[in-house]
Amino acid sequence: QIYARITGTGSALPERVVTNADLEKIVETSDEWIVSRTGIQRRHIAAEGQTTGDLATEAAERALEAAGVKASELDLIVLGTTTPDIIFPSTACLVQHRLGANGCAAFDVNAACSGFVYALGIADKFIRSGQSKKVLVIGAETLTRMIDWNERETCVLFGDGAGAVVLEASEEPGIYATLLHADGGFKHLLYNPVGVSAGFKDEPNHGVRINMAGREVFKVAVKTLDSLVDETLQAAGMDESQIDWLIPHQANLRIIEATAKRLKMPMEQVIVTVQEHANTSSGSVPLALDYAVRSGKVKRGQNLLLEAFGGGFTWASALLRY
Ligand code: ACO
Repeated sequence: QIYARITGTGSALPERVVTNADLEKIVETSDEWIVSRTGIQRRHIAAEGQTTGDLATEAAERALEAAGVKASELDLIVLGTTTPDIIFPSTACLVQHRLGANGCAAFDVNAACSGFVYALGIADKFIRSGQSKKVLVIGAETLTRMIDWNERETCVLFGDGAGAVVLEASEEPGIYATLLHADGGFKHLLYNPVGVSAGFKDEPNHGVRINMAGREVFKVAVKTLDSLVDETLQAAGMDESQIDWLIPHQANLRIIEATAKRLKMPMEQVIVTVQEHANTSSGSVPLALDYAVRSGKVKRGQNLLLEAFGGGFTWASALLRY
């Protein structure tokens, strides 16, 4: 049997850090409110002109270096994002050219905050089928470009960043199971109302903004992630005790704690970066993974459970041996 194995990880964050205290100066909010509701303390924000593709390229270069793989050896690039540089070509194609991997397949996946885990699930299938041997999977966003900085309900929640992994075909595990789900019936709870086909508006930022019913999203997220982790364990034929680390989407510390509780895992076994990065959408899981690997927390041979939930709604997971 062929497995897809992570052989390198990388990440990239913009230099500029904005703290909760900085946000107190522009909207009516407080560090206390933000920390107690979300766990977020600061976020990185892309500089003017710095794009999703810039962050993705930087993260990808680090992942390739860690794996000892040359860009020219890649046969697929899958990039999860909901904030592409331009409408087309895809950001995956832009990154491919900058890396010098021209010729291999490259495409974007838009599954909002589940983008990276969706991309990982797709890449796993390409490797298992024998179609691809070396795949670059990226999650990258400049979500703050969608933010209305007058709206305290959303502006405190998001940040920019990217993470990447190199997956290689291997006889050793590897990814055991991935699950991808969506329910478009929840669009009204979390969406960006404008776009090419629906049209842009004569409003600030052309009407680009994050519409979110926070409390409702919270409730559905907790419930959905509960059943997702059960389903993932079942698909991999494992139980909670076999999971060494939970690496969740970093949207809200309270959602993360609820999932950990469901898995009967102490918070010491959960990778938490939300306090540093806020919600970086598709960037969040690979950023947390790279932090976990480079800080020496996650070690070779350990089992990791990755999960994400986002606009769509979409939700997805991966259970793998690192
Ligand atoms: N500072 C101070 N007060 C605020 C702020 C703020 N930044 N934002 C809202 N408030 C106020 C509200 O106006 C409200 O006031 P009221 O009671 O007088 O009406 C009060 O705080 C409580 O608001 P709630 O929305 O009920 O607060 P809640 O405890 O639900 O926390 C939050 C809000 C943090 C958004 C939470 O619901 C949440 O995290 N939801 C999930 C969001 C999420 O996970 N999104 C992930 C997907 S994102 C993606 O896919 C792109």
